[in-house]
Amino acid sequence: MRLSDPKLLAALPELDVERIAGASLSERTSLGIGGSTDLLLIRRHATLPAVVTLLQEAGIAFRFLGGGSNLLVSDGEVPWVVLQLARQDPEVRLEGNMANVDAAADLGRTVTFCAKHDLGGMEGLIGVPGTVGGALRMNAGAYGMQIGAYAREVELYRAASGQIVTLKNDDIRFEYRHTSFAPNDIMLAVKLELPPKPYREILQGIRICNEKRRSSQPLNRKSAGCIFKNPPGASAGRMIDELGLKGLRVGDAAVSDRHANFFLNVGNATCDDMLGLIGQVRERVRAAFGAELENEVIFWPAE
Ligand code: EPU
Repeated sequence: MRLSDPKLLAALPELDVERIAGASLSERTSLGIGGSTDLLLIRRHATLPAVVTLLQEAGIAFRFLGGGSNLLVSDGEVPWVVLQLARQDPEVRLEGNMANVDAAADLGRTVTFCAKHDLGGMEGLIGVPGTVGGALRMNAGAYGMQIGAYAREVELYRAASGQIVTLKNDDIRFEYRHTSFAPNDIMLAVKLELPPKPYREILQGIRICNEKRRSSQPLNRKSAGCIFKNPPGASAGRMIDELGLKGLRVGDAAVSDRHANFFLNVGNATCDDMLGLIGQVRERVRAAFGAELENEVIFWPAE
């Protein structure tokens, strides 16, 4: 969608918002799939309510993009604009063992920064791509830990009320790859309480997790991480593997040979290729195991 309303276009620079016209979403998602639209880069969190109000008054639909690492986006010109927070400087501020982290901060860099200041706990998240805000929304986890366990306060923009609010951890439910945040809540910042640990010990944990990840997951390939959630007590990857579906392709979308719950864009996969592959695999798993695989990847349809 291209913005053309002159009043809106004139107001954006006053709010310190940068407009990237016709931004390619395939270049902004780890799957390398997605059409194009205008992208509004928000430089100051405080302006978000005003930006959203402007869009709502003009009847323009919008979606909020984090790091794009767990996202499947429709092809072609999509009928909504995309908002994204610009990175802040500094991204992390420490107060004792509390890390105040900007939602747009890179997750891996945040884990490393905290480690260098002798704050651990998040070793398992090293190698998980994306932003801290995205990790929080999904309650990202790996190797026995989930980020929600460390969140003490979350500052967010609540589109339903138009307010920026701060929630305490008691007000938020963090579950397996799911949280009680509303779909249109926009994460702005988080206060993480991290266990103090010597850097050398944290580094040791990071190395072990890195090694496990390298040996079991296709890194440096175009993917969205695991495509399905694990059903309770089972592993989606193992079930797909047992069915011999590694390497299965629909167009340029393929089940990884390394980890069967990673679906790759091996060339110029379209969104339909990926949806086709997801549908086929889900059907085969349902038929063989009676298990209903739920998407872990977030899908943004063109509607
Ligand atoms: N397995 C196979 N074949 C495969 C893949 C896995 O047989 O192709 C087997 C493994 O040998 C193992 C079991 O399935 O016995 C579980 O595999 P793994 O340890 O790789 O864990 P997972 O359940 O597939 C989960 C998370 C990952 C996270 C890892 C490590 C989900 C959906 N996936 O994978 O998270 O990195 O554990 O903690 O919860 C993600 O969320 O995107 C993600 C990649």
